[in-house]
Amino acid sequence: MSQYVVAIDQGTTSTRAIVFDREARAIATGQKEHEQIFPAPGWVEHDALEIWRNVREVIGQALSKADITRHDVAAVGITNQRETVVVWEKATGRPIHHAIVWQDTRTQDAIDALAADGGHDRFADITGLPLNAYFSASKLAWILDNVDGARARAEAGELLFGTIDTWIVWNLSGGAAGGVHVTDVTNASRTLLMDLRTLDWSDEMLAVFRIPRAILPAIRSSSETYGVANPHSLLRETPIAGILGDQQAATFGQAAFARGASKNSYGTGNFVLFNTGEEIVRSEHGLITTVAYRLGDRPAVYALEGSIAVTGSLIQWLRDNLGIIRTAPEVETLARTVDDNGDVHIVPAFSGLFAPHWRPDARGVIAGLTRFAHKGHLARAALEAVAFQSREVIDAMNADAGVPLAELRVDGGMVHNELLMQFQADILGVPVVRPAVSETTCLGAAFAAGLAVGFWDSLEQLESLWAEDRRWEPAMGEREREARLARWKAAVERTLDWV
Ligand code: G3P
Repeated sequence: MSQYVVAIDQGTTSTRAIVFDREARAIATGQKEHEQIFPAPGWVEHDALEIWRNVREVIGQALSKADITRHDVAAVGITNQRETVVVWEKATGRPIHHAIVWQDTRTQDAIDALAADGGHDRFADITGLPLNAYFSASKLAWILDNVDGARARAEAGELLFGTIDTWIVWNLSGGAAGGVHVTDVTNASRTLLMDLRTLDWSDEMLAVFRIPRAILPAIRSSSETYGVANPHSLLRETPIAGILGDQQAATFGQAAFARGASKNSYGTGNFVLFNTGEEIVRSEHGLITTVAYRLGDRPAVYALEGSIAVTGSLIQWLRDNLGIIRTAPEVETLARTVDDNGDVHIVPAFSGLFAPHWRPDARGVIAGLTRFAHKGHLARAALEAVAFQSREVIDAMNADAGVPLAELRVDGGMVHNELLMQFQADILGVPVVRPAVSETTCLGAAFAAGLAVGFWDSLEQLESLWAEDRRWEPAMGEREREARLARWKAAVERTLDWV
C-alpha cells in the first residue's frame, strides 16, 4: 500500500516538492528557484517552460531523497502562485509569451479605463474582487491583444490559457499528447472571470475582458482525481488529485476548516484568509471575497482575504537591490544590531498597495531618515513593515467579522524569524501561533489530494494532525502599540500622494 502523498508548490520565486507520510510529516523536499524577469518598470514575468522543467526536477529530488518510487505514492497535489497567466499552443505545449506574474502592473491603464465607468468595485458582486491588475483577466487580455495573431488563434481553439496550476496539471498529465485542461475553484476565483455563486465562468466578465471561452480550462473542485501523471514522468499513473491556490492551500494545511478560522502566510507577499463557511461575505473594509476550497461535490467554502503584495520580497530587495544582507535570514541578525527602528519606516508599495487600501498608484517610501539611520534600522523597518501591513488587514477583518481575532496562526518562510514573530504579536496584541509543520502550503495540497483518494478519511482526521509548535505572547503595552501604529499610518500616507 502506498505510504506517501507528494505535493508540488509552484511559488513566485521557487518550486518545491514535498513527500508527506500519513502522519503529515514532511519526509523529503526538493526545491529550485527560477528566474524573475523584469522587462520594464512594473512588469514581472516568468518562463513557463523553466517552471515546468523545475517541477520535474524537484519531484525527482524529493523522491530520491525519500528513497521511494511512484509505487509508494498514493496521489499528487498541486498548489501554486495564483493569478499568474500562461497562454500556450495546444498542439505543441509552447507558451506564446512569458507568463505574466501576479505582481505585474502593465495593465493598470486598461483597468482604470474599465473602472472609469462604475468604479473599481463594479464587478465585485459577481467576482468578489475589485478591478485590479493583480488578477488574471487583464493580463490574459493583454497577451491576446499584444501577441501577433493570438486572439484569432484563441478563437479558433488553438491556444490554451491557464493559471500555473493548469499549466502544471496539463503538462504532468501528458501535455500535447492529451493533457487535461482544468483548474480548481480557488484558482478560478482569482481571475476576475468566475462567478462566485455559480462557480462557473461568467459570460458577463468574459465579454468585459473579451476572452474567448475556447481558451479556458474546466473549473473543477479542489479535491478529486483530475487525471493521472503521464507515462513518461517519474510519477507515471499516479492520480493527480488536489489543486489549490497557494494561500487557500495554506489555509487548508492549517486545518482552518471551521467558520471563523484564519491564517497568515509569510511568503513573497502576505495573505491573511478568514474562513466564512458556505456564506459569501462581502467586505466593507477592503478585503476580497474568494473561494477557500471545495471538496468534490460538497458546497464550496468561502473566505475573506487580505492580500499584501510585498513582504518577503522586501527582504529579497534588501538583499538583491541594496546588498545590505547576503542571505534573507541575515535580516534578523542585522535588525538585532539596533534597539528599535530609529523612527525609520519602509512602506514597500512596489506594486501599489493591495489590501486594505487598493491603491495601484501608491509608490514605496522610506520615511523618517536622519543621519543617525543605518542599515540596521532599515532591516528592522523592513521586518516591521511585514507586521504592520498584517495588522492593517487584520483590523479590516475584525471590522468585517465583528468579532476580534483571538490568536493568529502563521506559516511560511519568515515564521522562523523570532524578532518578526514577537513584533507581530506585539503589534497585534494577540498571540501568534506556529504549527509543527510550517510547510502548510504543501501540506494543504497533500491533504486535498490524499482526501480524494482515501489516503486520509475526513477533515476531523486532518484536524487531529495539526499540532502547535510555538506561541508568541504580546509583550507591548497598549499605549506604545497605538503610538507605533500611528507612525506607520503616517508613513503609509506618504505613499499615496507620490504620483
Ligand atoms: O496571490 C499571489 C500569491 O498566491 C503568491 O504567493 O507564496 O508565491 O508569495 P507566494
